[in-house]
Amino acid sequence: MAARGGFSNKLGFIAAAAGSAVGLGNIWQFPYVTGQNGGAAFLLVYIGWIFLIGLPIMVGEIAVGRKAQSNPYGAYKKLGGKSWAYVGLFGIICGVMILSFYNVVAGWAFGYFLELSFGNLLNEQDYSGFFSAYVADFRDNLFFSIAFMVITAYIVYRGVQKGIEGTSKVLMPTLFLILIFIIIYGLTLPNAMDGVSFYLLPDFSLINGRTIYTALGQAFFSLSLGMGALITYGSYISRNDNIVNSAILVTIADTAVAFLAGLMIFPLVFSQGQSPAEGPGLVFVALLGVFQTMGPLIGKIVGGGFFLLLCFAALTSTISLLEVPVAFLVDEKKWSRKKAVSVMALLIFLIGLPSMLGFGAVGAFTEFVSYEGGVKSFMDVVQDLFFVISLPLGGFLLSVFISSKWKTAGLSEEISHGNPSYGGSFIEKFFNLMIVYVCPVVLGAMFLLTVLQKFFGVELI
Ligand code: PFF
Repeated sequence: MAARGGFSNKLGFIAAAAGSAVGLGNIWQFPYVTGQNGGAAFLLVYIGWIFLIGLPIMVGEIAVGRKAQSNPYGAYKKLGGKSWAYVGLFGIICGVMILSFYNVVAGWAFGYFLELSFGNLLNEQDYSGFFSAYVADFRDNLFFSIAFMVITAYIVYRGVQKGIEGTSKVLMPTLFLILIFIIIYGLTLPNAMDGVSFYLLPDFSLINGRTIYTALGQAFFSLSLGMGALITYGSYISRNDNIVNSAILVTIADTAVAFLAGLMIFPLVFSQGQSPAEGPGLVFVALLGVFQTMGPLIGKIVGGGFFLLLCFAALTSTISLLEVPVAFLVDEKKWSRKKAVSVMALLIFLIGLPSMLGFGAVGAFTEFVSYEGGVKSFMDVVQDLFFVISLPLGGFLLSVFISSKWKTAGLSEEISHGNPSYGGSFIEKFFNLMIVYVCPVVLGAMFLLTVLQKFFGVELI
């Protein structure tokens, strides 16, 4: 273990895993996807997925990683043999593709931080127009996303304890505080309560197949599940740690931040008379008008602080995304950490270029293909293929792997280290039920439903 590195203690793991989970998925994506899918009804479905399916899968991933002491490919290979190793490899590829677009959005957040803190962004009249022009500007985006990837690579290069753990421990609590501050401010604005109703009073007629699978993909993405990030982080924890407690804490922290991000955004959106279904620009547009009303100095401080923290939240996630292929190359191909980090960071950056160019800079990537009743950009396609569909599929494969190959006895045995009362407990029965019966059936069915509905226009529910 010493040679591979590891977290210093349980808190270090929780901070790093929560850092991986809490990111752009919570603060940028969750509010806009909720806004596009009916508000409160979506929130309810999302929370159901998180606790019924997400939590057991998270525990399963961490246990697999700790048992095998390896990256996802090596872990599946060690516990399941050569053919299962491809499942691990598939997860690693998903992580590479996710980081390719994630880094682009992180670059926007970085650019907004600089524009707000040091520029004249608070004098703008039309923030929606500004955002569209901003993301279409190739040069700025290129610069900011290179910068973000370089910082990510540097932290991952420094290793698990100094880099990943140290960074996460400081940044996560600060983020929480600034969210609370903006929520309280937002709730005092006129019409804020319309936003609260949209977000918290469900209209069940808005639940349909699309809401259900979008919420599932979002839940997996937000918890960093289905692609082996937590197998990798699990391989760095001690056998004395209580996996179940850690997973519950990470799940609650992640869900709390997503929930609070919604509670921050929707009152602001409604108080400014904007549409909650604005799409990816939601956070970048809705918040700016509010920072403007705070006046030049306070607006700069709070606005700059917010986007800085958004960058930090993104950073603790990008490092976990990069760590997955790096751990693979170090463990399996015996590359040095330095070589693995440099090659992967460059490769992933290049793969992300079409996503970056697909917001107006290059027409062919902006209007890349059409399906699901609309035109999709290159980034939309990468998101659909590598997280909306693949992460729940990764969860399906993990549950099939545990129930058919590793067996629940193996799972329970691993979890019992650091948690002696696990065997025979209610929570053990719940996890086993979920992993052996519910996850394979539900996630398998959701995979089919999503593919049929998204790409073939067949609406089963
Ligand atoms: N959970 C991260 C977020 O919500 O922003 C995204 C993510 C990170 C997904 C790491 C997957 C992963 F392995």
